[in-house]
Amino acid sequence: MFGQILQGINVMKDILTELEDRRNDARLGGGQKRIDAQHGRGKLTARERIELLLDEGSFEEFDMFVSHRCTDFGMEKQKLSGDGVVTGWGTINGRMVYVFSQDFTVFGGSLSETHAQKICKIMDMAIQNGAPVIGINDSGGARIQEGVASLAGYAEVFQRNIMASGVVPQISVIMGPCAGGAVYSPAMTDFIFMVKDTSYMFVTGPDVVKTVTNEVVTAEELGGASTHTRKSSVADGAFENDVEALAEVRRLVDFLPLNNREKPPVRPFFDSPERVETSLDTLIPDNPNTPYDMKELISKVADEGDFYEIQEDFAKNIITGFIRLEGQTVGVVANQPMILAGCLDIDSSRKAARFVRFCDCFEIPILTFVDVPGFLPGTSQEYGGVIKHGAKLLFAYGEATVPKVTVITRKAYGGAYDVMASKHLRGDFNYAWPTAEIAVMGAKGATEIIHRSDLGDAEKIAQHTQDYEDRFANPFVAAERGFIDEVIMPQSTRRRVSRAFASLRNKQLKNPWKKHDNIPL
Ligand code: HXC
Repeated sequence: MFGQILQGINVMKDILTELEDRRNDARLGGGQKRIDAQHGRGKLTARERIELLLDEGSFEEFDMFVSHRCTDFGMEKQKLSGDGVVTGWGTINGRMVYVFSQDFTVFGGSLSETHAQKICKIMDMAIQNGAPVIGINDSGGARIQEGVASLAGYAEVFQRNIMASGVVPQISVIMGPCAGGAVYSPAMTDFIFMVKDTSYMFVTGPDVVKTVTNEVVTAEELGGASTHTRKSSVADGAFENDVEALAEVRRLVDFLPLNNREKPPVRPFFDSPERVETSLDTLIPDNPNTPYDMKELISKVADEGDFYEIQEDFAKNIITGFIRLEGQTVGVVANQPMILAGCLDIDSSRKAARFVRFCDCFEIPILTFVDVPGFLPGTSQEYGGVIKHGAKLLFAYGEATVPKVTVITRKAYGGAYDVMASKHLRGDFNYAWPTAEIAVMGAKGATEIIHRSDLGDAEKIAQHTQDYEDRFANPFVAAERGFIDEVIMPQSTRRRVSRAFASLRNKQLKNPWKKHDNIPL
């Protein structure tokens, strides 16, 4: 009897040892040599990244023992547990997220049929259970030995990216190669972050570019973090290294709801909503053509001055990002008078439109600060389709049903006045500072058009300009019509805006039923 029990314990021990051995084997990915090579490049491994991303000890792994089924090119002799991607779920500051992290040490992180199935499994669970998906990309692309099975795997992932869009937040972190059709999965997610010098994204690499267009370009120039955050706007942020990038993803997740059925999280705050900022009373310079930094206003309004900027390095004439007011997430869109006088153009319209749509998908209220002299003139703008791109922002604001609070600080001219979350686009609270000028255009331009016959007479023109300014360079004409709900003191902006959003917490507004809209893409 005693012998039997002892034997049972030994069998159990063997089984447990086997499990631990298998786990250790899987944890080693492509082996110590390749892990060292990964570290040698300044990159962390797939598992180290997950550890940094998630709360300590919160990661629950799926499919650790999955391996590929390929039998071509001798692949049946090379089976590695996990098949080049680590998947599962865990928490970020206690809130659930799903994660996949490609393991470059296993077949270069390339995507096989089974690798794709692992990603699809957690994406399906994320959609079903309502939690964000964070994808850490570090991959040589399609598993070459698997051919079309790999392409099919990508398409399965793409389809899930599309289904998850607007249902759960999707965040991509590019931490190595991401090339060819593989780029289209991150491209369909809500945010893309890259690591400087160790990550790149392109549809075709430098060699193909050289062959086809004769251009000589490095991988970094073609698709590095700087290219995608400054030139193409494919990426939303660039960070110095893996550690910084993952810490910033944690910070972003804290602003976001877990899914589209939930409100954004409310955090404790230590900043009175009544805080008065007298310095804002002198933010607007005397000369209407002198710029000032709109970011000063944003940080002075935000809880604890905390502003999480999105696409900081692209189309800097508009600012987008998240703040909290009374602990609640608010999306901010603001013209930046320091760059191109804050005018709207193709890039700024696209940038802000996508941001507004993200906020609306996930019930994040939108705060808009307006100082806009109009749309940027020029052939490059017209040939580039500023009409359609400007319409994106107009459309995005107009369709948004989340609470919308707008503050005009200075200029709100022409069509840009309408576009920037005006009352006419269902703005809930439209405030103006006393320095606001709401008009079809600036006084000089207006005078030159309506008093063309006096153009030769400088004195008359000066008088007409003065008359126009007296009439329109103020918020009161719009306020008389109710297009501006209230002219507020700059120093009280935080209090007024916080109270406005507080009053809108139970806002209910629905657009007419439709299959989906047809935003001018
Ligand atoms: C299978 C791959 C692989 C791939 C890399 N490896 N890419 N295995 N399929 N796609 C393997 C290598 O054989 C090597 O194995 C290990 O990963 C590391 O690769 P290295 O070349 O040694 O690393 P490095 O010098 O850093 O170069 C990384 C790389 C390069 C730039 C990514 O590996 C590369 O160019 N790979 C091929 C990229 C590619 O053309 N992919 C297909 C793109 S088309 P060992 O055993 O030596 O460690 C595509 C279409 C998607 O992705 C379509 C979706 C619709």
